[in-house]
Amino acid sequence: MEILRNVVVLVHLVGFAILFGAWVVEAAARRIRVTRLMNVALAISLLTGLILSAPWGLDHDLNYAKIGIKLVVLIVIGALLGIGSARQKRNGSLSPAIFWPIGILTLLNAALAVIWR
Ligand code: HEM
Repeated sequence: MEILRNVVVLVHLVGFAILFGAWVVEAAARRIRVTRLMNVALAISLLTGLILSAPWGLDHDLNYAKIGIKLVVLIVIGALLGIGSARQKRNGSLSPAIFWPIGILTLLNAALAVIWR
């Protein structure tokens, strides 16, 4: 059970790595845009996060306040990705006010996960 849980944590980390990595690639190339890969990675993070939110294969209690905040942050990221891709399609460009919070909130969720035990 514990090994299976660790495998789900690994896939959850892959979701984080792809989401943050896809965002950094665009930021480093000074392309203010959202990509399909970001949506896919967010879906991976959500699905695996929900699986990990059930108390199985654990010897400690889960921090549900932290999990709730992470879920809210993920929903905000999802909304920004949705609004971002719609505006991008309509205008051909995206406001930095939508692009930057996507990366910052992703990093915030990872920071919450590792710093707040
Ligand atoms: C962008 C979104 C997210 C990011 C970047 C993220 C990041 C992380 C990271 C880096 C870890 C590993 C922490 C560690 O083992 O030290 C983790 C674990 C975890 N995450 Fe997420 N996460 C996200 C979304 C979510 C969501 C939406 C949920 C639940 C609704 C969730 C629930 C969990 C749980 C339950 C764990 C395991 C904690 C434990 O076993 O103590 N995550 N997350």
